[in-house]
Amino acid sequence: MSKSIRVSLLGLGTVGSGVMRILSDHAGMIERRAGSQFDIRHIAVRDLGKQRGVKVDPKLMTTDWKAAATAPDVDVVVELMGGTTAAKDAVLAALRAGKHVVTANKALLATCGDEVFNTAREAGVCVAFEAAVAGGIPIIATLGTSMTGNVVESLEAILNGTTNFILSEMFSKRRAYGDVLAEAQKLGYAEADPTMDIDGTDAAQKLTLLTQLAFGKKIETSEFLRQGINTLELADMLYADELGYRVKLLAMTRLIGKHLEMHVEPTLIRRNRALARTDGAINIVELRGDAVGRLIVSGPGAGEMPTASAVVADLVDFAIGRTQLTFPRLEIWNNDSPLTVLPAEQIERRYYLRFNVEDKPHVIADIADVLGRQEISLASVIQHESPEQSAAAAAATGGGVTIVPLVIMTHRTTEGRIRAAEAEFRRLSCVRSPHIRMPVAD
Ligand SMILES: NC(=O)c1ccc[n+]([C@@H]2O[C@H](COP(=O)([O-])OP(=O)(O)OC[C@H]3O[C@@H](n4cnc5c(N)ncnc54)[C@H](OP(=O)(O)O)[C@@H]3O)[C@@H](O)[C@H]2O)c1
Repeated sequence: MSKSIRVSLLGLGTVGSGVMRILSDHAGMIERRAGSQFDIRHIAVRDLGKQRGVKVDPKLMTTDWKAAATAPDVDVVVELMGGTTAAKDAVLAALRAGKHVVTANKALLATCGDEVFNTAREAGVCVAFEAAVAGGIPIIATLGTSMTGNVVESLEAILNGTTNFILSEMFSKRRAYGDVLAEAQKLGYAEADPTMDIDGTDAAQKLTLLTQLAFGKKIETSEFLRQGINTLELADMLYADELGYRVKLLAMTRLIGKHLEMHVEPTLIRRNRALARTDGAINIVELRGDAVGRLIVSGPGAGEMPTASAVVADLVDFAIGRTQLTFPRLEIWNNDSPLTVLPAEQIERRYYLRFNVEDKPHVIADIADVLGRQEISLASVIQHESPEQSAAAAAATGGGVTIVPLVIMTHRTTEGRIRAAEAEFRRLSCVRSPHIRMPVAD
């Protein structure tokens, strides 16, 4: 007869309901694979009166998350409440009470992961968090177990489904940013307050976790460049297309000697790359290992069932005993690593620049002069003029000066030089601000 693993489920929202659904729909299969039955003993929620999408025994429900997290009749606590307040207290209390923890809470791990992991190690228990990054994609397992024979050389990823959906819709339907965001919120693809997605915070938190696992180095999100998608316009995607690229919110870490180059920014990616072809709410991670070469994992990065799939896989790993073997060896939140984050000014790549400029002689020469002083050379220039644009722009400026877009692709240069050039652009009267700047990933 198989043994029983006793579980407290903290949270029965989107992901919690998915976990209950899988455990009940596939009970027999999971029991065979885990060699155990999962016995849900407590379910903590905020509102006992709320209608739930799954059938659960009302006797299991409680609002007392603390009691559920520390109950003596429980082996594993599954934290699916979200946030960094009650969820943090619940996870720490569960670990101190000797429970293993499964969590999907990336915000918690990104902000206080070292405290959570140290508490687990002191208590001799484990934390599993496959669902915390890229939902259903098995990226933690890939990095934590399958890549252990490799020096990871780079990690490039699309880790935020909301922004990828917005960028994909803008390009494919030729729609403006604001329109697509409003629709995404209406359809439930974007949160009522989408700030953390739009400004790149969510992707940066996920990149922090993946980088720590891949490179064994403790990183804070404040240590690297982060830029959101809210300044982008459809025009940028169309220019990028003309140049052979797609625009994506790319999260990237690359090993350069003793440094880690890291950033989360809207980036031009060559159209033929898998990253560029990843549309909608799908996530993708492209890894390069010195032994294996290039490896790509892709799939649904969020949603009820994909995220629950990762949570249940973590539960099965506990039942089998795999997590108890791998967790103590995970290289994460390591302060002893000699690696440091490369200062932003030293990051080297190509750039896309879009200006709104006065349509008059010497403008391109003035801009090229600024770039030349910073030793930045031009790879290509696009300046279109349509009668509609000219008329509209002329009307907007009282019939005086016509404002036209000018796009420049640079050769490789540093972030420091581009910033110095930008300071000079702001002083050029022919350049109307703000101008758009994006790095290029070839
Ligand atoms: N949704 C996704 O696609 C997805 C993907 C990857 C990771 N995650 C992560 O998974 C976690 C859960 O996300 P979710 O989308 O399932 O959230 P959700 O739908 O908002 O569900 C949260 C659940 O936690 C309960 N809860 C919250 N605070 C509580 C408290 N103080 N005491 C007791 N219960 C409390 C809520 O109770 P009530 O139901 O009574 O309100 C609800 O059942 C988050 O960390 C999230 O970042 C989610």
